[in-house]
Amino acid sequence: MADKLELPTILRLGNGAPATLAVMVPEDGPDLLAFYRGIPEEDRLALREDVTQEAWLARFLAKLASGEAISIIARVAGKIQGEATLHRPLFGWSRHVAEIRLNVAPAVRRQGLGFILARHIVKIAIGAGIEKMVAHMIEWQVAARKTFERVGFHREAELPGHVRDMQGHKRDLLIYADDVSHIWASMETLVNDFRPSRAPR
Ligand SMILES: CC(C)(COP(=O)(O)OP(=O)(O)OC[C@H]1O[C@@H](n2cnc3c(N)ncnc32)[C@H](O)[C@@H]1OP(=O)(O)O)[C@@H](O)C(=O)NCCC(=O)NCCS
Repeated sequence: MADKLELPTILRLGNGAPATLAVMVPEDGPDLLAFYRGIPEEDRLALREDVTQEAWLARFLAKLASGEAISIIARVAGKIQGEATLHRPLFGWSRHVAEIRLNVAPAVRRQGLGFILARHIVKIAIGAGIEKMVAHMIEWQVAARKTFERVGFHREAELPGHVRDMQGHKRDLLIYADDVSHIWASMETLVNDFRPSRAPR
């Protein structure tokens, strides 16, 4: 693959805007909180934790420090506009499995950022010895379903009534998954016609 997916890197999104991708460091914490506080409530309510709270950030930074989480942030015009996290258990029987969580600000969606963040996370997962990746989403998260299918995940399980939506209605939780090597192969076949271009330095 021509693109070695090294970080940090500068890419041009579909709309031409340059985006800087880097592994998150603790100093990015306040900006990450600002990013999550700015995304629409309907998207935040689909997340497992209340990511607008300082307490959440403290827990997240602790996970980054322990290696239980690895995060990539994307900045556009200096502002965080996208984030992808690899959550991996350090102990126990599923140490070979990691979960990917992905969020992109509405203002820059459909510009390829979600896909490129996913590619970087899969590369990091391979480097960390992860063999299988999963992503959780609620049935109505169409963009998430389409994005993960595009990345190479397939629907592995459906847990009926497992989560409640904003109106308190029970919804199905979809679990998308695949072996990392399959996901990587799917992404490689897509990459030439899909990836945002690398910005001139
Ligand atoms: C899911 C999400 C990360 C996608 O980010 P994005 O930057 O818009 O994704 P991309 O531009 O890379 O899109 C990748 C592909 O996914 C599909 N896709 C993305 N959004 C879509 C939508 N709203 N409807 C249909 N297909 C969609 C398309 O195939 C798209 O490629 P295309 O634009 O060339 O057709 C973003 O919509 C988001 O943050 N949603 C809320 C949070 C969430 O659901 N996270 C996932 C659960 S972990």
